[in-house]
Amino acid sequence: MRTYAGTLDQSHSSTTITIAGWVQKQRDFGELVFIDVRDRSGIVQVVVDRSKGASDPLLAAAKELRSEYVVRIEGEVRERSEQTKNPKMPTGDVEIVATTIELLSRSETPPFPIDDDVDTSEDLRLKYRYLDLRRPALTRNIVLRDRVAHGVRDYMHRQGFLEIETPILTKSTPEGARDYLVPSRVHKGTFYALPQSPQIFKQLLMVSGLDRYYQIARCFRDEDLRRDRQPEFTQVDIEASFIDEEFVFALIEGMFAEVFPLANIPITTPFPRMRWQEAMERFGIDRPDTRFGIELIDISTIAKAIEFAPFREAETVRAIVVPGGASLSRKRIDELTEEAKKLGASGLVWIKFDAQRGSSIKKFLGDAGFDSIREALHANEGDMALIVAGRTTKVWDVLGSLRLRVAKEQGLIPADRWDFLWVIDFPLFEWDEESGRFFARHHPFTSPRLADVDTIESDPGATLARAYDVVLNGLELGGGSIRINTPELQSRMFRALGISDEDARDRFGFLLDAFRYGAPPHGGVALGFDRMVMLMARAESLREVIAFPKTARAQDLLSEAPSAVDEKQLEELGIARRPS
Ligand code: AMO
Repeated sequence: MRTYAGTLDQSHSSTTITIAGWVQKQRDFGELVFIDVRDRSGIVQVVVDRSKGASDPLLAAAKELRSEYVVRIEGEVRERSEQTKNPKMPTGDVEIVATTIELLSRSETPPFPIDDDVDTSEDLRLKYRYLDLRRPALTRNIVLRDRVAHGVRDYMHRQGFLEIETPILTKSTPEGARDYLVPSRVHKGTFYALPQSPQIFKQLLMVSGLDRYYQIARCFRDEDLRRDRQPEFTQVDIEASFIDEEFVFALIEGMFAEVFPLANIPITTPFPRMRWQEAMERFGIDRPDTRFGIELIDISTIAKAIEFAPFREAETVRAIVVPGGASLSRKRIDELTEEAKKLGASGLVWIKFDAQRGSSIKKFLGDAGFDSIREALHANEGDMALIVAGRTTKVWDVLGSLRLRVAKEQGLIPADRWDFLWVIDFPLFEWDEESGRFFARHHPFTSPRLADVDTIESDPGATLARAYDVVLNGLELGGGSIRINTPELQSRMFRALGISDEDARDRFGFLLDAFRYGAPPHGGVALGFDRMVMLMARAESLREVIAFPKTARAQDLLSEAPSAVDEKQLEELGIARRPS
């Protein structure tokens, strides 16, 4: 029987065990050889010692080993002497005195050392991902991912939910990113779409009466990637009938209370709730990171008293106070100004609350303006204000981003703090400047609040949705809503979104049809599973918690996907390439 190397401790002393794994390191001192052996559980030290009776063949076998060779070793576990114990190693109190060494497989020198401290380009690590995954930190993340998935399944099963798979080859779904398309060979000129989420199918399952569904579901979205976005990712997708928002909140809080402690993250339930409007006013963002202050402050009235045209002409003037920011260099301030402009601000005004009273609008400000702004902001000596004037939504956006950036740069975000938050009362629609029309902020199946049904047509911008997001430390972990469940309201919603009856029928006709046959009230939520595990693993990127992730350019460097295909395959699919 094989024992995992990383599990060995003094309780195994004097027992004979067998381990199997990879040589992390071999150190040859002539008559004495140390071999560190790694498997998925950890590393243990093996000794082959002539003075303790190791035979010539055994010593020779030990000497032959190189990094990443695969071995099976039998031996006796022995407590190390006090001087040789290694407190940095979980198995550092013991070692294995080898009695047999079996070389199972040799390895070429790997392109990078299999070590957590190693500084190798991520592209090289991704190309040799199977080696990268041997690194203990990455192995630990993948093991954690398994534990969390198991915890989720166990919890959902106990809550009476059925795990049901939904199709991967399907039709366009409504989440608003670009689809990945798969051409049909049988029906030339037509395409399947890979699901952006199982949204429509889970709603159909509610019509079917399967009343509590969940799935750890793969989703596909062709969108611009960031460290918290992958083109294929995993959701814990949930839907239930005859429920309301409170059911969803309690369900998710109960789940998190079980799984986050797997990563030593304490959970206090219920989570605080914040209305969308409040989140935007205070933090400028709909997924506020509440671990630190620096809230947005409306200084419109005071600012408009100052003879500075951009303030006078603006819809609103708002500020954040950077604690200790008066010491920021000109270069840092220029970078922040650049960032503000990139985000669409016409400019960034700064005021330093120190003896020099430095400001980008010093000549307009005067002592009175300086004092009134300082008072309004309750700023301390040594602080700095960053002020943006313009349209409210733009000002939110810019200051919301600057707030996060300065908090990071100034080291104001406390470590190991876990702020869970429900954001509620989202607007149903979002106005898109470019196309001059409303979009569904969540997706078009989200129900308006019952009190707001009639404003869908009369005042879409003011209509609130029965939608909610769960946020952790400023990252959107999940989102969902109570859905529309009548064909009438669903049709009104499509019309309000400028989706013609014909278009709605074409895209979602099967859902509209289903609603005619007794659709129960229902709702649900989807959690970003990779994001959950990323935060639990204290990782910086989703790539650290996905076994075979894609790069920011949506490539798999290991298999080299996407790749060209044979002309013959294209022909079978009825696809001709256009010369580019
Ligand atoms: P939504 O689009 O908000 O909702 O997605 C739910 C959660 O999925 C995660 N997520 C992603 N994770 C990694 N990479 C991506 N590209 C990515 N996109 C989304 C986020 C997000 O909060 N059908 C609805 C849910 C519902 O209404 O029940 C949906 O998909 O953590």
